[in-house]
Amino acid sequence: MQEAAVRQCIGEPTEPANIVIFGAGGDLTKRKLIPALVKMLRCGLLHPECQIIGVLKGRTREVWLNTLYEGMLKYAPDTAMDEPQWQAFTSRFKMVSGDLQDDNTYADLAGAMESLKGRTNAMFYCAVPPRWYTIIAAGLHKQGLASETEGFRRVVIEKPFGMDLESARQLNHDLQELLNESQIYRIDHYLGKESVQNLLVYRFANSILEPLWNRNFIDHIQISAAESIGIEYRANYYEKSGALRDMIQSHLMQVMTLVAMEPPVEFTADAVRDEKIKVLRAVRQIEPERVQHQTVAAQYGSGSVDDEKTRAYVAEDGVSPDSVSETFSAVRLHIDNWRWQGVPFILWTGKRLPKRVSEIVIRFRKPPFNLFDTNANPPIANSLVFRLHPDEGIFLRMNAKMPGLTTDMRRMVMRAPYSDDGGDVSDAYEVLLHDVLSGDATLFSRADEVEKSWSIIEPILSAWKDRISVERYRAGTWDIPGMEALFENCVGGWHKPS
Ligand code: BG6
Repeated sequence: MQEAAVRQCIGEPTEPANIVIFGAGGDLTKRKLIPALVKMLRCGLLHPECQIIGVLKGRTREVWLNTLYEGMLKYAPDTAMDEPQWQAFTSRFKMVSGDLQDDNTYADLAGAMESLKGRTNAMFYCAVPPRWYTIIAAGLHKQGLASETEGFRRVVIEKPFGMDLESARQLNHDLQELLNESQIYRIDHYLGKESVQNLLVYRFANSILEPLWNRNFIDHIQISAAESIGIEYRANYYEKSGALRDMIQSHLMQVMTLVAMEPPVEFTADAVRDEKIKVLRAVRQIEPERVQHQTVAAQYGSGSVDDEKTRAYVAEDGVSPDSVSETFSAVRLHIDNWRWQGVPFILWTGKRLPKRVSEIVIRFRKPPFNLFDTNANPPIANSLVFRLHPDEGIFLRMNAKMPGLTTDMRRMVMRAPYSDDGGDVSDAYEVLLHDVLSGDATLFSRADEVEKSWSIIEPILSAWKDRISVERYRAGTWDIPGMEALFENCVGGWHKPS
């Protein structure tokens, strides 16, 4: 086995379990869940006795399995199995056909679940639109499938978890009537990215960063997710959601908590989540009259991305021609605590931008005094960049001397790509599915975290609710109205990914 493959296999295999996927005929299942399970199996991280039960309706088993196989070839060719391997793998697949509102579906599911090594463990993955989450939990509860007497029973809830504070509270309340909080795994795939977890290791397993990691040395922090794709086939969801809900309330705010939190007392789910919630509690509430100054919203027009002409958001299939949903969003937040007082955290995301890059940029204060003649090339503020994807790694931007008899400066980047560590990077779903099956909830959001992050953006949602227009940007450019102003008084301004 090659070095890269060996490294990927590090980790304990899961317990044998019934892996139940609601929405097994859908997009998430074929694009992400099945390829992740295949990879886990290959690496010995999935117990070979696990059986996969797909809950869906309107398809034969043959058609369902063919869709999964084609999906794997198309979306995860690097994980693809050949026919005989696939036949062997899918011999552990069962299909339960039925309506999610029908009690008989859950009775059939109970019949399909197997006792494996004396325990009927189950992970129930809700790969379905949000309106089904409570219906599924109620169906499981009624059938006795949520009871943990014969093995663990864990329910994975996808995002979006609510559309605002009120709906998130309601969803938490409804789920907690039917399940214990310890059984609910609210998934945020950003936390499964290896580079996000690596951030915790960089922060808490090295001693050189901690002394710098505060308002005395850091000017501001940028957390971003730029995408080159448009909304693809998701107009229905995106029209109601927009970029703020889709990416900032969930993924980017979660990443912010890991950047800003204090060291936990131990690396356990609750110790980590206790520290994350403290960060969210310390975020300064945005006053309604400040919303305009602390946020940016814009929508892509037509343009060109990756040398291909692209249409405007309002011309996408399923989008209303006068839609004001934002496809780019940015928020400037302040964390009122001892460590971060006065350090802006700027979270931004957008679709149809020139490239797909997600980063955390720690921008340090300028040197207090310029010793060199820097008219030609003034010193830049140092930045420490954690690249979440692609080309995961860590980069440090420094000033250095030009070679030769001069003290002119040049900008130098010290690069430490993650790939230099010898393995390819695990997929987020692989990490998170393994965690659910192993009962490790560290990378999943707790009820209080989700509600708090909604409450932070609630004033923005209120201010934007009745807007009748939105700024536009040309697809494939960084010309986003309002972005430069959002970085007022931030050393070095907006870091556009290069
Ligand atoms: C999803 C959003 O949660 O994350 C999508 O709903 C977005 O709109 C996606 O495209 C981005 O994920 P990644 O891992 O490609 O950055």
